[in-house]
Amino acid sequence: MLTDDQVAGVRANFPILQEKTYLYSCSQGALSYAVVAGLDDYVASWRTSTAPWDVWMGAYESLRVSFARFINAEPDEIAIINSASGGINPIASALHFDARDGVVMSEYEFPTMGQIWLAQQPRGARVRFLDGVGNAVPVEAYARAIDERTRIVPLTQLSFLNGSRSDVPAITRIAHDNGALVFLDGYQDCGTRPLDVKALDVDFFVTGTLKYLLGPPGLGFLYVKRALIDSLVPTMSSWFAQRDIFAFDTRHLDLAPSARRFENGAPNIPSIYGAAPALDLLTRVGMENVAAQIERLARTFLDGAKALGIATKTPASSVGPLVVLRAADPAAALAQLTERGIVVSTRMDGVRFAFHVYNDMADVHAALNALEGMQGLMVSA
Ligand SMILES: Cc1ncc(COP(=O)(O)O)c(C=O)c1O
Repeated sequence: MLTDDQVAGVRANFPILQEKTYLYSCSQGALSYAVVAGLDDYVASWRTSTAPWDVWMGAYESLRVSFARFINAEPDEIAIINSASGGINPIASALHFDARDGVVMSEYEFPTMGQIWLAQQPRGARVRFLDGVGNAVPVEAYARAIDERTRIVPLTQLSFLNGSRSDVPAITRIAHDNGALVFLDGYQDCGTRPLDVKALDVDFFVTGTLKYLLGPPGLGFLYVKRALIDSLVPTMSSWFAQRDIFAFDTRHLDLAPSARRFENGAPNIPSIYGAAPALDLLTRVGMENVAAQIERLARTFLDGAKALGIATKTPASSVGPLVVLRAADPAAALAQLTERGIVVSTRMDGVRFAFHVYNDMADVHAALNALEGMQGLMVSA
């Protein structure tokens, strides 16, 4: 657990925290001086070299190694991609929908997850959405829906809509017992707690750098379990997906034997330079410390909102990072919070308060104080 002084030290890296109560990491993490320095390094590398690709390829491979370590994977299990969608699509394209044609997912997945698998319908996929009960999809609903015809279970680790947390081990067990694959979407959680994809035993994992990983947009990571890579041949490809990127062999498709076979063209070099120091910053703070700070803040905020009589969408068991409160007038609630310098976002009837290690109790109290005068705009519990 971080001391108040240590949290203050973390906060000093993020200039916006001096001006705003920043509870917006579910949409975009705050910019740190470390990331600014990384982006400056990128500009310098471009300015000082006429052929900086060797240097840039070094930064790209080095980020692959750092991210692999961050989630307890091997570097050759990681593809560097330009969006989470850009990681899901090549896997969807590589799967066959024959006797196993089922795709089973919660209604609380991020839209891109639903849309990418729905786009596989002309290829034979049968997509089924599971309804939530009280803002969570029970494990039993997965148990009833997954069977020997299920090809894959796309699974949000934490829902962008209501902050509910999926029981990943239980759902993965059910899927694997039925011979189905699991594709975990960690974009709303990665960067907030230690993550071990091997312990979770998921087959695929995707995330992006923009939110809790505190990096720039336009960059993400796809993990593919080593044993699956050889058997997956995507129908979308690129020169960066080849065994030897710089073979320049237009007449041959020779896919990389690693997860790089799922990459789509030249990587986003500026974002790589920005994302690396952000990952380093989180690692140095310590992911156990990050998780403990987030849990403390999210619990206090959730308790405070309940004490104010405001209806919540997030189950207490989620322990952050996202707490979503139900609003009667989300647009007006957003406007009032913005006026008070509290940076949040809305989705449907929910106002989203996202906590990260750089938030402190003063942020929690600032948000609760603002909400105290806003009960008319919120739904009562
Ligand atoms: C859980 C989740 N998955 C996927 C996405 C989509 O990411 P991208 O735009 O990188 O494809 C988001 C973006 O907000 C998200 O929150």
